[in-house]
Amino acid sequence: MTYVVGENCIKCKHTDCVDVCPANCFYEGPNFLVIHPDECIDCDLCVEACPVSAIFEEDDLPEDQLNFIDLNAELAEVWPNLRNRKDPLPDADDWDGVSAKRDLLDRGAA
Ligand code: SF4
Ligand code: F3S
Repeated sequence: MTYVVGENCIKCKHTDCVDVCPANCFYEGPNFLVIHPDECIDCDLCVEACPVSAIFEEDDLPEDQLNFIDLNAELAEVWPNLRNRKDPLPDADDWDGVSAKRDLLDRGAA
């Protein structure tokens, strides 16, 4: 079992989740964060911490976001670890709730 960062994090990246995670299992890309599934201890703290409700327990993921399970696992292996909260992306509020953001995911150097 793990927790998974879903689509609504894309182009928001508030990073409140990082501050509450006791396992330091968040990894950062240019416009999205992911959780390393082998490091997550299922504490549930990040779900409430995310201001845009982007994080789900694996079994609670909406059907159309099931591919984010593999996406989190894949990118957590290549992106750097993030342990401290930082400013959200400048236009984060404009992107909250925008549907079909997954095509805007920036994999960066990954
Ligand atoms: Fe970190 Fe807990 Fe969220 Fe897992 S469930 S990513 S351990 S805060
Ligand atoms: Fe993303 Fe929410 Fe964390 S927007 S960076 S999952 S606080």
